[in-house]
Amino acid sequence: MKPSVILYKKLPDDLLARLESHFNVTQLNDLSPQTVKQNAAAFAEAEGILGSSEKVDETFLTHTPKLRAASTVSVGYDNFDVAALTARRIALMHTPSVLTETVADTMMMLVLATARRAVEVAERVKAGEWQGSIGPDWFGIDVHHKTLGILGMGRIGLALAQRAHFGFSMPILYNARRHHQEAEDRFDARYCDLDTLLAESDFVCISLPLTEETHHMIGAEQLAKMKSSAILINAGRGPVVDEKALIQALQNGTLHAAGLDVFEQEPLPVNSPLLEMPNVVALPHIGSATHETRYNMAACAVDNLIAALTGEVKENCVNPQVLS
Ligand code: DGY
Repeated sequence: MKPSVILYKKLPDDLLARLESHFNVTQLNDLSPQTVKQNAAAFAEAEGILGSSEKVDETFLTHTPKLRAASTVSVGYDNFDVAALTARRIALMHTPSVLTETVADTMMMLVLATARRAVEVAERVKAGEWQGSIGPDWFGIDVHHKTLGILGMGRIGLALAQRAHFGFSMPILYNARRHHQEAEDRFDARYCDLDTLLAESDFVCISLPLTEETHHMIGAEQLAKMKSSAILINAGRGPVVDEKALIQALQNGTLHAAGLDVFEQEPLPVNSPLLEMPNVVALPHIGSATHETRYNMAACAVDNLIAALTGEVKENCVNPQVLS
């Protein structure tokens, strides 16, 4: 008999067919307590789950005694209690490689959009304000040759460094848990401590996962160390930045602008002061959101679940110790 799995995200037809050729699939909308309660029998039998953006914690796991693998359609896995999964020998699979270039594109887009005020001036054009030759109140600041600081030199940080170095002749600073030889050799990236990076960068780009260590890593103290002409870009996870402190820095003018794809609360509440600020570009967490990349992520997640439940995992496992 085929193993049972719960699918809590819509998949393209061909990927659903692939999943169904291996498993008995129960499709649900989410993993909310109500859904779990209403489908208790399916959760009790499930050996795998596949989806994204839902919390998987101790409480949830009490309803899934047969679970052997969880496959998330994302690179980030901060919504999973990895320790709880590992203690139950449940493999956690994610999609790290397929979205790298697309998320790096998003970060570079935020750098350009904030520096050149692309969203703000486009809105002014739509509002009919472009009535003659534009003056300095429409001008932005240059991106090329400015210093780009990257927090977190993982795959995405590296892809951003490549774009900035070759495309925009930007000197690269980076801070990470360890030196990254490839970034230094290929893109002349210079490793430095956080304070130096904050003080010297024209753009501070966050490409970090959310962990206990990175939670509010950028707060009032760190923002105060940045140049008042600097721009903060966050496409990692919202809670890496203390959003209240960021709002204050933007309101006080101690920070020039911010380009944000992620927020402490998502969707961003409609009454957030960030939405009132012309110097903030706020995106709805679109880092990887292209048709091609979202398809590739879903395909990767399907393959990951098949590999995990057939004992053939070669890559993409967050807690490989459970496989042995
Ligand atoms: C991820 O995969 O974690 C991204 O945030 C999705 O865009």
